[in-house]
Amino acid sequence: MQTRTLGTQGLTVSELGYGSMGTAVGYGPTDDTESVAAIRRAHDLGVTFFDTAEMYGWGEGEKLLGHALAPIRDEVVIATKFGFTQTFQPNSEVDHVRNVVDNSLRNLNVDAIDVLYQHTPDPSVPIEDVVGVMAEYVQAGKVKYLGLSNADEDTIRRAHAVHPISVLQNEYSIFARDTEPLFPVLDELGIGFVAYSPLARGFLSGAVKPRSEYGPNDFRQRIGWWAPENFDANVDIVRRLTALAETKGASLSQLALAWLLAQRDNLVPIPGSRNAGRVAQNVAAADLQLTDDDLALIADIAPNGGIGSRAS
Ligand SMILES: NC(=O)c1ccc[n+]([C@@H]2O[C@H](COP(=O)([O-])OP(=O)(O)OC[C@H]3O[C@@H](n4cnc5c(N)ncnc54)[C@H](OP(=O)(O)O)[C@@H]3O)[C@@H](O)[C@H]2O)c1
Repeated sequence: MQTRTLGTQGLTVSELGYGSMGTAVGYGPTDDTESVAAIRRAHDLGVTFFDTAEMYGWGEGEKLLGHALAPIRDEVVIATKFGFTQTFQPNSEVDHVRNVVDNSLRNLNVDAIDVLYQHTPDPSVPIEDVVGVMAEYVQAGKVKYLGLSNADEDTIRRAHAVHPISVLQNEYSIFARDTEPLFPVLDELGIGFVAYSPLARGFLSGAVKPRSEYGPNDFRQRIGWWAPENFDANVDIVRRLTALAETKGASLSQLALAWLLAQRDNLVPIPGSRNAGRVAQNVAAADLQLTDDDLALIADIAPNGGIGSRAS
């Protein structure tokens, strides 16, 4: 597994990371023993970058990730995020940020958080105030690098003026392309990029099902790609991408991850899986080289990404 450098402050991680959201929320029932095995398999295969957030089970996801990584803490980079209320509204009030970050340190059972993200912009708190609090943690040695997530250009520029931002984490995949206009801004400011939901929440995993087949706790029931009017067109895109992957002896998820790695040097995808075997399949994407012809074919199959909204 190669490494990639995100930003200009020294943050260096494996070129494929691991997203742990599904170990706590979003994709239906979980099994902690299997999740821990999946996390440790990722590390065994060379992954050093692990992503979580306070809101993934309101601390439970952080505790599970911290437990799984405890024996190898010094070999990995752990990222977490703050910025929501438990009713999923933005909250980056400075007292709330301090409270959440202190809890995250305890939940993860670490002396320092490697990457601390604001999870989502909060229109009621100036970003300068938010980054000011984040920077206090850097100065205290309790956070190493700062990141933003789901942020727009104005937020990125204003935040970076207060304290260097090493990384932006936004949704990006063959299906979700709306973040691409931010790339010149990231290049100008020297900020790295983490691609979340790189398998389009599983649509690009080869295991997609109609929305009616997901359980009540599976948020994909509400995403536009799964809407009845879009689903068949998206399945057709997936069918053509899968056929292309097969010509290369690869799976659809490997094609989707290799496509991301080919977009930019300072980009790291963080696919999520609660299953060790599927983690291994995803990690093998690092060995898949896509040619210019492959990339052109993908652009032809999905010129504008998936059909319908990526949002719920
Ligand atoms: N900053 C943000 O606002 C934000 C938002 C969403 C996500 N994230 C981060 O990004 C990470 C990844 O995003 P995500 O989990 O939403 O979506 P994703 O990685 O695009 O897809 C995850 C889904 O694909 C399935 N899957 C993964 N690999 C597979 C394979 N090889 N074969 C078949 N199915 C496979 C997983 O199921 P199984 O678990 O059953 O394998 C899960 O249902 C999250 O864990 C989180 O850390 C951040």
